[in-house]
Amino acid sequence: MNICVVGLQWGDEGKGKIVDILAENSDIVVRYGGGSNAGHTVVIGDERFALHLLPSGSVRPNVVCVIANAVVVDPEVLIQEIDGLALRGISLDGRLFISENAHVVLDYHKREDQLREESLGKQKIGTTIRGIGPCYADKVGRSYAIRMSDFRNLDQLNEKLRTILEYKNKLFSALYGAQPMSLDVIAANCKTYAQRLVPFVTDTTELLHEAIGAGKSVLFEGAQGSLLDLDHGTFPYVTSSNSSSLGLPSGCGVPARMVDKYIGVVKAYTTRVGAGPFPTEQDNETGQYIRERGHEYGTTTGRPRRCGWFDAVAAAYSIKIGSVDSVALLHLDTLTGLKELNICKAYEIDGKQTTFFPANIDRLAKARPIYERLPGWQEELGEAKTFEDLPVAARSYLRRIEQVIGKPVEMIGVGPRRTQTIMKED
Ligand code: GDP
Ligand code: IMO
Ligand code: MG
Repeated sequence: MNICVVGLQWGDEGKGKIVDILAENSDIVVRYGGGSNAGHTVVIGDERFALHLLPSGSVRPNVVCVIANAVVVDPEVLIQEIDGLALRGISLDGRLFISENAHVVLDYHKREDQLREESLGKQKIGTTIRGIGPCYADKVGRSYAIRMSDFRNLDQLNEKLRTILEYKNKLFSALYGAQPMSLDVIAANCKTYAQRLVPFVTDTTELLHEAIGAGKSVLFEGAQGSLLDLDHGTFPYVTSSNSSSLGLPSGCGVPARMVDKYIGVVKAYTTRVGAGPFPTEQDNETGQYIRERGHEYGTTTGRPRRCGWFDAVAAAYSIKIGSVDSVALLHLDTLTGLKELNICKAYEIDGKQTTFFPANIDRLAKARPIYERLPGWQEELGEAKTFEDLPVAARSYLRRIEQVIGKPVEMIGVGPRRTQTIMKED
């Protein structure tokens, strides 16, 4: 069985935890998009892993890990991650495969991301400054792009870098008055990256088709969330890739029909990092309560996450565009202690009610959430093992969410650990 795990909100839903659990029964785990802007957490006992580029299956020693063509690879971050796992006794040798067609994030991408965000002031997107947008822009522009396969030929790569640096330095100086970046430093870094990473570089599309043909089970790990999708999210406050499950086919060369099941991940509430509209945001004591109880601070940047009520309109939209079959709902434990909970089941826009999420931000900015109020619960949930162990109010909350989004909740998170997950179905 091939499964895709995809975030249905604005990222950080807990995809890493769900992928880690499902990886137990998978042969291969594939990252099909995004870059080191992602931060996926896996907690095993008292050990915590924060993964940015490696698939979350990498913490299981027998799982094959693939970084597919649409991922933008920051070699420095990836090498750190490989070395970090090695120090903890987990080796990627012989089981990590990086697409030769994946594009490479270099220092000038991160610089450009930072300079542009700084220059935008209040209008900034609030990116992770990981060079993601500039790298994808170079990919689409083609002339100044570097792919993983370029590391196989350093002379040719250095020629390319010379042309690119000349262009970038002129641009940075003219637009931002920035100091030039050194070609020698970047070329020397690339030599190290090549030595370390070329052994992992291959044709991952061929690898995946052969594996699927041989009956292996593949788990596809989405990054970011569907509402951050470049084409279907809240543009321009999105990331620069197709982060919904629509990005899977182009992201790794596997057609959507080869995926047997799409599992959407949501939190029991909603969070967002960076700028952009967020209809159910609670910029108040409730939001603060959720942030502190849920440790809602970015895995990649440490920024406090904006918190708000569960938005069923937004989740239902992501389910529709993503062909989602069932839902994993995490952080139910975080809501303990709130007297009342709200589920947003419709928006009012210009005096009219709608249950279809308008991704266009001019309309979304006008959306007034229409809430259904439900009672909260006071019990801690961390020890709950079955659905029946949950307090009545928590069960009612889950059932109501299932009704409003129209999909079953099959996995329930009651704490960060691998074991703190209730499976409703086998
Ligand atoms: P991802 O980017 O979707 O993988 O999510 P992140 O790792 O960025 O953020 C999710 C955070 O919630 C991490 O710190 C997880 O350890 C934590 N987490 C995951 N599931 C649960 C849960 O059910 N309850 C609690 N309290 N924390 C959880
Ligand atoms: P995971 O995979 C949450 C957000 C940034 C910013 C916008 C654009 O951990 O869920 P970018 O650096 O991509 O150009 O930033 O997208 N963003 C995320 N938010 N989780 C993520 O990844 C994110 N990746 C990007 O905060 O608003
Ligand atoms: Mg994250």
